[in-house]
Amino acid sequence: MTTFPSDFVFGVTASAYQIEGAWNEDGKGESTWDRFVREPGRIHNGETGDVACDHYHRYPEDVALMADAGIPAYNLTTAWTRVIPDGTGPVEPRGVAFYDRLVDELLEQGIIPYVTLYHWELPQALQDIGGWANRETVDAFVRYADVVSGALGDRVTQWATHNEPWVASFLGHYFGEFAPGHTDLREALTVAHHLLLAHGRSVPVIRANVPNSEVGIILDCRPSTPASADPADVAANRHFDGFRNRWFFDPVFGKGYPQDIVEAFQERGVDTSSLIHPGDLAEIAVPLDFIGINYYTALAVAAGHEEEEITWLKPGPNPPDGFTEMGWEIVPSALTTFLRRIHDDYGATHIRVTENGASYSDGPGTDGRIHDRRRIDFLWSHLNAVAKAIGQGVPVTGYFVWSILDNFEWTLGYSQRFGLIWVDHETGERIPKDSLYWLGNVAAAHAIE
Ligand code: FCB
Repeated sequence: MTTFPSDFVFGVTASAYQIEGAWNEDGKGESTWDRFVREPGRIHNGETGDVACDHYHRYPEDVALMADAGIPAYNLTTAWTRVIPDGTGPVEPRGVAFYDRLVDELLEQGIIPYVTLYHWELPQALQDIGGWANRETVDAFVRYADVVSGALGDRVTQWATHNEPWVASFLGHYFGEFAPGHTDLREALTVAHHLLLAHGRSVPVIRANVPNSEVGIILDCRPSTPASADPADVAANRHFDGFRNRWFFDPVFGKGYPQDIVEAFQERGVDTSSLIHPGDLAEIAVPLDFIGINYYTALAVAAGHEEEEITWLKPGPNPPDGFTEMGWEIVPSALTTFLRRIHDDYGATHIRVTENGASYSDGPGTDGRIHDRRRIDFLWSHLNAVAKAIGQGVPVTGYFVWSILDNFEWTLGYSQRFGLIWVDHETGERIPKDSLYWLGNVAAAHAIE
């Protein structure tokens, strides 16, 4: 039996675009994802989040299922375009009212609400004037953070600014895979800087609105090792780590941008120093109440592939042992190592695992239930990895499973099922999986067998 500290929080998470649907209801504005999914060839089967899990209408049922299973906490994200449809103009009261109702419902059912303000959905009206590459978007975000924390801060104390800024900037503006689908390194680095600046500037605003708040940022991580001891692979791995991890962790923890990667970009003709105004780095390094990390998989990096994630298999059902259906290798030990690193290298004193989970398509069996044993094994092994880090003195204070519902997995559409609750994407019907009850039991016991 492995036990967790009594104040350790177990929870579940999801993001607005992936579950809410109601994409143009109650005054909601168009976001970059609303636009992107309509571009031919972008999304598996041409699917969209227009309806998604229809959580916008079905949230009472979703909250009741969480409560019934004994899930203590839920991290929701708010959609900027629901609250301020064009990004800078009037606040839409019906959008705010939705999050009000959702928070009230969670509290009534005894579930602690956690709120993340940005999970990649920029108002399209802001994209039309340069998006995150335009420094004025920083001010618009700070106002949005002020509005949402002002509206919900009497009931919500747990706040995160951004989710996975690496994805928003690099997948969206360098690799062109996510909205808005651009492929320009300079733009990606500009976007990354402005995302971080928006984070740094909104933390004090949230704190001013919310007494006793805990405010942080959620960064994704891809731990990596060199593919061999060959110095070329070692150097490639160092570059991958800088490009994928240190570019965000370093400035958030006050170390500025990593010099080796700054120089590597300069050699490619991309110099971002003019973007960084005096004082920016200090604002970005605002002391945080917690750092969230999202962890799914780890990689081995070989020379020539230092900016690729080449150990991915093709996503699909029946993955070989050791992989999930995302084609991601299952490497719980890398979670322990990464958590320790965040503590040792950056001095983090309050770390949460804000996303971890697995895509497996197991659906209802002959008994009508969903025995998603593989997901339970995955979660068990990763919780063990967290416990190991805690045992080594790393201050990890929470673990959130991605995701509460099977949902819209970005470019992969509905082909991936990460949920603890199965969703019939035709009818909207929900069926809790065994893993939902398993997590509820783990939370009640504060232990895993
Ligand atoms: C994370 C994202 C989340 C989901 C999971 C599988 O990177 O934050 O929206 O796509 O991966």
